[in-house]
Amino acid sequence: MRKARPLIAVAATLLVLGPVGWWWQDSLLPDAYSLMSMGHVELGGAAGGDHAAHGARSITELVADRNRPADVAVTLTARQDGDRYTVNGTTPGPAIFARAGQLVQVRLVNADVTGGVTLHWHGVDVPNAEDGVAGVTQDAVRPGGEHVYRFVAPEPGTFWYHSHQVSHEQVARGLFGALVVLPAQPSDVDTVATAHLYGGTHTINGSPSDLRVAAHAGQTVRVRVINTDNGPMSVWVTGAPFRIAAVDGTDLHEPGDVRDVSVLLTAGGRVDLLLTMPATPVRVQLGGPLSVVLGSGDVPPAPQPRTAVDLLSYGAPAALGFDPDRPDRTFRYEIGRRPGFVDGRPGMFWTVNGRLFPDVPMYVVQEGDIVRMTIVNRSGEVHPMHLHGHHAVVLSRDGVRATGSPWWIDSLNVGDGETYEIAFVADNPGIWADHCHNLKHAADGLLAHLMYAGYTTPYVLGPASGNEPE
Ligand code: C2O
Ligand code: CU
Repeated sequence: MRKARPLIAVAATLLVLGPVGWWWQDSLLPDAYSLMSMGHVELGGAAGGDHAAHGARSITELVADRNRPADVAVTLTARQDGDRYTVNGTTPGPAIFARAGQLVQVRLVNADVTGGVTLHWHGVDVPNAEDGVAGVTQDAVRPGGEHVYRFVAPEPGTFWYHSHQVSHEQVARGLFGALVVLPAQPSDVDTVATAHLYGGTHTINGSPSDLRVAAHAGQTVRVRVINTDNGPMSVWVTGAPFRIAAVDGTDLHEPGDVRDVSVLLTAGGRVDLLLTMPATPVRVQLGGPLSVVLGSGDVPPAPQPRTAVDLLSYGAPAALGFDPDRPDRTFRYEIGRRPGFVDGRPGMFWTVNGRLFPDVPMYVVQEGDIVRMTIVNRSGEVHPMHLHGHHAVVLSRDGVRATGSPWWIDSLNVGDGETYEIAFVADNPGIWADHCHNLKHAADGLLAHLMYAGYTTPYVLGPASGNEPE
């Protein structure tokens, strides 16, 4: 029996380490792999359709009309500048302005970003091949290389662009800019306020100070606030009532005047605030220490109002254009957290529907489907969830149905413990990322994909490919 003791100890150790070793081994990602083989298929209660690559169309065909000349042509050159990235020498990069229906053509040049770059058009439902996700819709552009993006500008609204190659690092360090589709009837004053934290320093449009904008009494003013950070921010206005004219590039229906309330702006999201200038200056505070100050003179900062506008009940209802109560597919996107291994790395990782990256859902749809998705957050932290290529309408939060203006989003703040129901029409074929826009979370595996049956991508992920979208 004396000899048996060490043997039992060895056996016990193996019993514990065996599975751990297997999990570790099992979590290792191949050097190059296709998204098509990643994760597990979810069909949302409908027949699958042919999701296999056999006979499938390549997403590279999903482009804007090749024969149409550009209405707006821009060249954007990405550079690495110490620990910053710049676009045409600045960060944020230049804002791009277009009108609805114009063909926008952007030539991206990578001067010297060693990790490679791409551009993703956040909130614009571009054709899939223009979506800018490295390893999914294109290869990352290497130093000295270039890539041309072409898409038709959507309805007027506020959008932004950013790299989708090593995005958790490249976006935080500057590789982004604003994209505005101008309204047919512009306000007297129209200003973009891109909020960004550079290593802990708050900025608006790249500057660490208040943004001062000239405006006279009686003028209408639109302030387009873009949250390019990883966390939510609150926006509030002192000195005038205001309206939330648009969320995520979509106008709200009959938004009413409000005051002494804050507006929650999720990471990656945008709000357009509209107000009429009084005779005195107005301060639009962007969460941290910075503000947009309208008019001349000063108005002191005010503490954040206690109540926030609830977009579930703000504005007046209007037709959605489809019936979300008759969905063709119903999906669940449940976010949790548990210890495990991702690519051999031990840690606490996000789970989607109980599983760890790369075993994340591949939500399969067919073109024309009405899709309903329930997003549940039981992970202990807030997640700004972003679906590419589509706008979804919010149906409910924690069982409370939406009663206000249709609330169309591309980025949704899902707080810990919250459950949202959203719906959208699958009207933009391709393969689309659906991830957390706290880009560090995405890099830690908080992502999934939406794919249309019958499509495939030739691009691959993994170190050997040079593509690392998150
Ligand atoms: Cu703004 Cu997948 O990103
Ligand atoms: Cu997250």
